[in-house]
Amino acid sequence: MTKKLTFLGIETSCDETAASIIRENDKGTADILSNVVSSQIEEHKKFGGVVPELAARAHLENIDHILNRAIEESKISIEKIDGVAATAGPGLIVCLSIGLNMGKTIAAFSDKPFIGVNHLEGHALSPGLNDNMKFPYLLLLISGGHTQFLIVKDINDYEQLGTTIDDALGEAFDKTAKMLDLGYPGGPSIEKFSKLGNEKFFQLPEPIINRAGCNLSFAGLKTAVLRETKKINGNLELKYNLAASFQKTVNKILYKKTKVAAKMFMEKTKKKEFQFIVAGGVAANKSIRENLTKLSNEMNFQIIFPDIKFCGDNAAMIAWAGIQRFKKNLIDDLKIKAKSRWPLDEKAPYMKGPGLKL
Ligand code: KG4
Ligand code: ZN
Repeated sequence: MTKKLTFLGIETSCDETAASIIRENDKGTADILSNVVSSQIEEHKKFGGVVPELAARAHLENIDHILNRAIEESKISIEKIDGVAATAGPGLIVCLSIGLNMGKTIAAFSDKPFIGVNHLEGHALSPGLNDNMKFPYLLLLISGGHTQFLIVKDINDYEQLGTTIDDALGEAFDKTAKMLDLGYPGGPSIEKFSKLGNEKFFQLPEPIINRAGCNLSFAGLKTAVLRETKKINGNLELKYNLAASFQKTVNKILYKKTKVAAKMFMEKTKKKEFQFIVAGGVAANKSIRENLTKLSNEMNFQIIFPDIKFCGDNAAMIAWAGIQRFKKNLIDDLKIKAKSRWPLDEKAPYMKGPGLKL
């Protein structure tokens, strides 16, 4: 019987300070021994978004306490773990360095292997905490900073099929909520207030929906929301209608583009049966879950969502990615540095900014 690995994970890439200890189990998934997340929502609420200096300071203030709690709750001592994994990118360097340096220090002092994890690989592998995943699978990663369709061929082996050419989906939710003055973080509040509105009330644009391929675009949708927001003059009923219409439009875009991505996946992999994973913070949205589940029934593929607590940023997914990389001998030395940009598919064209060709 092979040894079941126990890893400490640390995550500080954006606005959550998180630490977690997990252990592999007999089912091929993970037992979560502790999973501590300290969100900085209160700090960033008044600004309607993440403020880097505030985020870094909050990580510094929180990290010792979060780590101690994760170790205490796990009921095992650091000597008993098999390795340490910390997010090394992409994200804000000042934030990343706090968790990364802490992870490296613990690994050095306890003489354990260290793995610097790509935050996006953490999200990409996160369903493995609860479900048995089979490579290759199709991934829709929807978070505050990223929106991509990828073929997950193996650990450390990704092919990007499509990406947003402007805003990330989470960003579009957050900005829409800010325009409508519905609170921060935007995703959960848009989801909540959409239930009170009429989703057919506003006709909003569906940028590049009919263009070939599965790239996505949300900037035009956001601008249209801004235009309508100015007209409705704070009327509550219209605000809810606008939130609902925004969410419906997002669902329409995701439905259509996932259909295209699934076809691309089948063509490239020659597989008709496959798993489709929706991961990242926005994957917590129930209407998106229902919408894509409907498509999975229609197209006959298996859809898997990470447990809600592993959709948003957390350190259990970082520990899990660390374990998977360790098993492939992808171990880092302590010279590893934080990276602000770190695409999963290094060969994929960079799709934002001037010179962009669609
Ligand atoms: O994965 P995540 O926690 O952090 C990043 O890596 O970016 O994703 C955060 C994003 C935020 O934009 C937040 O508004 C969005 O996920 N989000 C949601 C929901 N919950 C969180 N978006 C839509 N519906 C939700 N229920
Ligand atoms: Zn994330």
